[in-house]
Amino acid sequence: MNKIREKKQLSETVFLMRVEAPLIARERKAGQFIILQLCEDFGERIPLTIADADPAAGTITLIFQAVGKTTKKLALMNAGEKIAALVGPLGTPTHIENFGTVVCVGGGIGVAPLHPIAQAMKAAGNKVIIIMGARNRELLILENEMRAIADELIICTDDGSVGRKCLVTEPLKELCEQDPKPDLAVAIGPPVMMKFCAETTRPYSVPTQVSLNTIMVDGTGMCGGCRVTVGDETKFVCVDGPEFDGHLVDFDNMINRLSSYKKQEAHSCKIGLE
Ligand code: FES
Repeated sequence: MNKIREKKQLSETVFLMRVEAPLIARERKAGQFIILQLCEDFGERIPLTIADADPAAGTITLIFQAVGKTTKKLALMNAGEKIAALVGPLGTPTHIENFGTVVCVGGGIGVAPLHPIAQAMKAAGNKVIIIMGARNRELLILENEMRAIADELIICTDDGSVGRKCLVTEPLKELCEQDPKPDLAVAIGPPVMMKFCAETTRPYSVPTQVSLNTIMVDGTGMCGGCRVTVGDETKFVCVDGPEFDGHLVDFDNMINRLSSYKKQEAHSCKIGLE
């Protein structure tokens, strides 16, 4: 049982929770995630990235969007209540070193998993340029936290309510056209956004890491639910990832697999959150 210490609403559907998990807080590294289950004996297991951790307080920070049944139920919980099970830290940590200039691109809720990576890239001595995208000002999260890390912060919104009115790929392309171009790009967000970020950097040969958020069950490489095609190989996101070379990921296949349980999810939400 993991007690929720704090809950904050970041936007209409995005929530932050600080949860007691001392061992995970001590061990976690940038890029890793947990799998959470709300009921002890049954129920969906969902992966959530560890957005931050405080080893001294023994807490981890989770940021999630209430879009499916489990995340909607989680959003109804409050500080003091307990989550039945948290497993982690899972996944391979992000490879951090001094690459030179790293462009971190975050779309929507993808800014949450990007935060610890940008933080670690900065701590390793990189120049960190952050591009954040959202549909509008209200949906932009962690702006102050990202501003505190970035050497340069570029905000893009679909409606122009804050920052530039454009997609994140526009400033990314401009940066790739500069001399010197970035040494690495890290893109995290909706699959379509990551696909087009990878297509933007490909002609400039800027190495591009993406973090995939697939359907998961066990999180230990046993069930195959999270499989993706990377180059000519089948990889399991939970153990081989979640980060992969964006130029090699078969995004169309991944997007297709993500919609496998849409009908069941819609039905499950329809019959209530109890
Ligand atoms: Fe089962 Fe990855 S979640 S193999």
